Amino acid sequence: MRANKGLAGLIAGDTAISKVDVSTSSLWYRGYDINELCEKTSFLEVAYLLLHNDLPNIAQLKSFEEFEKENRDIPDILYDLFKSAPKYGHPMDLLNQSVSILGTVDEKNILGTNSQEENLIKSMLLISKMPTVVANSYRLSQGLKAVKPDKNLSYSENFLSMILGKEVKDSLSVKTFDTSMILYAEHGYNASTFSARVTAATLSDLYSAVSTAIGTLKGPLHGGANEQVMYMLKEIGSADRAEKITLEKIRNKEKIMGFGHRLYRTGDSRTGVMKRLGKELATKFDVSIWHDISDIMEKTMIEKKDIYPNLDFPAASAYYLLGIPIELYTPIFAASRVTGWAAHIIEQHNDNRLIRPSCDYVGPSARNVQSILKR
Ligand SMILES: CC(C)(COP(=O)(O)OP(=O)(O)OC[C@H]1O[C@@H](n2cnc3c(N)ncnc32)[C@H](O)[C@@H]1OP(=O)(O)O)[C@@H](O)C(=O)NCCC(=O)NCCS
Repeated sequence: MRANKGLAGLIAGDTAISKVDVSTSSLWYRGYDINELCEKTSFLEVAYLLLHNDLPNIAQLKSFEEFEKENRDIPDILYDLFKSAPKYGHPMDLLNQSVSILGTVDEKNILGTNSQEENLIKSMLLISKMPTVVANSYRLSQGLKAVKPDKNLSYSENFLSMILGKEVKDSLSVKTFDTSMILYAEHGYNASTFSARVTAATLSDLYSAVSTAIGTLKGPLHGGANEQVMYMLKEIGSADRAEKITLEKIRNKEKIMGFGHRLYRTGDSRTGVMKRLGKELATKFDVSIWHDISDIMEKTMIEKKDIYPNLDFPAASAYYLLGIPIELYTPIFAASRVTGWAAHIIEQHNDNRLIRPSCDYVGPSARNVQSILKR
């Protein structure tokens, strides 16, 4: 029997972290519907849920938030790296290097010790520091001034403020950003999470597994799609060109970024709330162009191809309205997904077996090595 290309349809393991219910196009984090989580909780409550199996009570959330605030600073070695990085370098590469460096400077990061307690601390350190890395790797490599984290701001207020270089407290902006972080946090055995589990299963450490996952997330078929969506919307540029260009792309058999999903075939449950918040932002800022183009593209793709938008589609225009540089869309996704990756790495370490599939050999049959003069 031949393997399914892309391992489609293969069950590669168990997880108690999230459930993608294809029959109802819904997503559940440890038994909670993501739409209810978006309505009633914050990103840090969801991070706690993913790491600790259930939502925090008031005292648990307070100490979780305090740890996050106290550990936002990053070592000088990272600021030096960002200053010397070329302008054209992608922030995902700087994020990847930063996570490796954070693993290098963590004196508790000793190879072979992957206890749950140590993994939880490493996870929290990454959750706290990744926003500072994401914002400042971009700022410094682009010749802008560093913005240090501010303990007086909430997680999302602080993250957005560092990115934009000005204090953001507008409640709709912060709610939209925080909600995107909840929606991006976890999604079963997606490509980056699976790659993190493969690394963790060799008994490598949590930082190394997160670094593997960042490399996987960068690709445009996965997390990198949110950046490509915005480049595409800008290239289309006006609503009256949207249908024509979408039809052209379909005719040319191009992959249209932000559409389609390996699991969901009738729509991605994460898009509704993101689209609604994006539209509220568009009304508030009086900028409707991106949603006008998006609505036409969505209608055309569903009519002609029966392919629906995924989360990256509405997230891209919402981030654009917030003023976030396009190169940071995927690093922001990573700063959210680190919660899901960490939960999966812990789950893997706690019940481990090396992940090592087989493959069918389809190359040449046995042959002799010719002398170099005869080749
Ligand atoms: C997500 C994705 C990689 C899933 O891939 P997959 O499960 O391997 O699906 P396939 O590539 O086999 O697609 C099945 C069919 O739908 C088409 N299709 C899927 N996504 C498409 C898209 N975004 N645009 C145009 N056609 C698409 C394929 O061309 C294929 O058509 P065919 O059977 O005529 O060849 C794919 O939908 C894609 O590339 N989307 C764009 C990138 C993106 O938004 N990624 C973020 C995912 S959350």
